[in-house]
Amino acid sequence: MKLTLRRALSSFAGMLVFLLVLTLVPIALGQTPSNAPLDDRAVRERVDSLLKQMTIEEKIGQLSQLFRFAPSKEIDEAVAKGQVGSLLFVTDPAIINNYQHMAVEQTRLHIPLIFGFDVIHGFRTIFPVPIAMAASWDPSGAVREQAIAAKEARAVGIHWAFAPMLDIARDPRWGRIVEGAGEDPYLGSAMATAQVRGFQGDFIGSPDHLLACMKHYAAYGAAEGGRDYDASYLPETLLYNVYLQPFHAAVQAGVGSAMSAYMDLNDVPATGNRWLLHDVLREQWKFNGFVVSDANAVRSLETHGYAKDLYDAAVIALRSGVNMEMAIGFTAFGRNLPAAVQKGDITPEQVTEAVRPILEMKVRFGLFEHPYVDEARAPQVLASPEHRTAARVAAERSAVLLRNEGSLLPLKKGVYKKIAIIGPLADSQANTLGSWVFQSEVQETVTLLAGLRNELAGRVDVSYAPGIQMSRKFPSFFDEILHHTPSPAWPPEQAKEEMSKAIGLAAASDLAILALGENQDMSGEAASRESLDLPSQEEQLLEAVVATGKPVVLVLLNGRPLDIRWAVKHVPAILEVWYPGTQGGNAVTNLLFGDAVPGGKLPFAWPRNSGQIPINYAHNTTQSPEDQGKRYWEEESTPLFPFGFGLSYSTFLFSDLKLSRDRIKPGESIDVTVEVENTGSSTADEVPQLYIHQKYGGTSRPARELKGFERITLAAHEKKTVHFSLGTPELSYWSTATKGWVEEPSAFDVWVGPDSTASLHSTFVIAP
Ligand code: NOJ
Repeated sequence: MKLTLRRALSSFAGMLVFLLVLTLVPIALGQTPSNAPLDDRAVRERVDSLLKQMTIEEKIGQLSQLFRFAPSKEIDEAVAKGQVGSLLFVTDPAIINNYQHMAVEQTRLHIPLIFGFDVIHGFRTIFPVPIAMAASWDPSGAVREQAIAAKEARAVGIHWAFAPMLDIARDPRWGRIVEGAGEDPYLGSAMATAQVRGFQGDFIGSPDHLLACMKHYAAYGAAEGGRDYDASYLPETLLYNVYLQPFHAAVQAGVGSAMSAYMDLNDVPATGNRWLLHDVLREQWKFNGFVVSDANAVRSLETHGYAKDLYDAAVIALRSGVNMEMAIGFTAFGRNLPAAVQKGDITPEQVTEAVRPILEMKVRFGLFEHPYVDEARAPQVLASPEHRTAARVAAERSAVLLRNEGSLLPLKKGVYKKIAIIGPLADSQANTLGSWVFQSEVQETVTLLAGLRNELAGRVDVSYAPGIQMSRKFPSFFDEILHHTPSPAWPPEQAKEEMSKAIGLAAASDLAILALGENQDMSGEAASRESLDLPSQEEQLLEAVVATGKPVVLVLLNGRPLDIRWAVKHVPAILEVWYPGTQGGNAVTNLLFGDAVPGGKLPFAWPRNSGQIPINYAHNTTQSPEDQGKRYWEEESTPLFPFGFGLSYSTFLFSDLKLSRDRIKPGESIDVTVEVENTGSSTADEVPQLYIHQKYGGTSRPARELKGFERITLAAHEKKTVHFSLGTPELSYWSTATKGWVEEPSAFDVWVGPDSTASLHSTFVIAP
């Protein structure tokens, strides 16, 4: 408030502006945002009245979003002149307020900026990466985690998260598989709904929440060869039944914005694709938020050879349904739309319709009344111990136990006197967090080594050796943004010594815990791979440590499945912990020693090697299904671990699969129940999963499709009845035969069990 006064009163004109602001936004400053959603009609009327006052230039200004990485005179001027509607990558509340003052006080109509940021899996408190969130199979956890991320980001003045990422990924060579929910549309939709809810709260503009942005619309995850940004070619059946599903779920959950993707979809770039952005999104799904392009994606319509030049790119993108252009430096919209309107290539009405939903969001967020953030509040919100606890719990719930021969895990307390912690990821804070982490206090991150030392100090002799180093052959541009300078490579002599030291430590200990996987910059944007091998000499290190004969636990930190065929044969215990976040080390320690029990499940089928890609479980049944596992002559063609797989320290028995009816008409539904019993001796979680198969019909349907799941906690020997429902949403699909949604008379298999190979079986029919 003081700052406002000083600035505004510094000139007579400023004073007039200030008075005007005060009349437009009475008693506003210092109030808290509304606890109830604004009335739709009131929002519309308010925006209509604003639109009536706006010049075409002012409207076009709102359609531009610029990155702001560092102080920039150009950006200051653009904001003050109303040529920008949004900034991204500003995270300091004082700087945010500064820009907001420029926008509110210096532009004619005092339209505030909306600030966006990549709040992907936390802001200050970093949660496990999104693929891990999906591996929890716990949508309610995702709601909680994204609500905390939203609260922290909102506390510094951010209004808008560029998340959730809803791209189905069936090719783990694609680095961004780490940012999504994996291969399945049903799980993906559940996580989409949950995250939208977590970010946005009960309504758009809820206090302490953000506007969510579903991305990257659409089919970005199907990049050819898994190469990031490369073209996707998808038939309509995969688009409608698989790749678009999570986006549709997010729209149904009320997501307020969408980000158009980078790549060509069937030769039409997503950012210039009216079918995607208009016909499907707005006509079919009735989306009424706004679309922002991915960074520089409007400009790249020219690069793709789709637009003749930047003028053409701006015209195509706007006409296709992009409302706001995200760009570095300048936007094609800002530079070209005024001329396009003058020439008649874009009508003034098209500009008005493009800006309307953007202004509506600003109104719903109460930005006109509350443009500024309380700078004093942020530190306390960001420091919340409850948020850190939630991060630990999230990491515990997302871990997947892949192997546990001889029940090596949980480690028995008091048995091991000397433990060797080995591997390049065991004590690396950045690599415990994962990608898209800019605002955490990295030094606050608890690595695996730190977590184990916290737990075992004074009782166990814990020693550590990295053994090897690893890095990308081609550096990531994120390392530049984050000023990560790779540590200099060890000279060959030292490399040998480090390896021997690690092996020596293992040999001299009672137990070795190896932390292997990938550095965080090896998965994420622009982090695709051509193989799934363990990078660098990790395999060699692993084999040498196992050769010491000591019991070995392999802890994997990674964002994609890796080729761990050797480990699966030779290492008794393998725990997948992904990039577990701020509290990762404490969480993994709890898991290793049984203070937490793994209950996560794989959100993708884990291939044996990259040659099997794609290997999603929901493939069709084809000729010689009995040879499904022998399609290749030199390697099994089944996955190493099936979709939905994950062990526990306990055991579970599934029984009494019951269907309320064995015959229904289209449109009716069936209740399915199953008994699940914890047959072990400790409390643990299981995720009963329901799969169906339509046996015949207008088109061939996948051998299995997930259509229900629930993560439950059962005390030792406790038994619970789990309920599912199968109705039109689960039993209909988009048919290439009819070019529409159908629910067909047919026979169906139903299976319920602990993963996608579930064997408890029943059947029913749909008959007219
Ligand atoms: C490009 C990425 O594809 C997108 O996911 C991200 O939100 C934007 N850059 C903004 O950083």
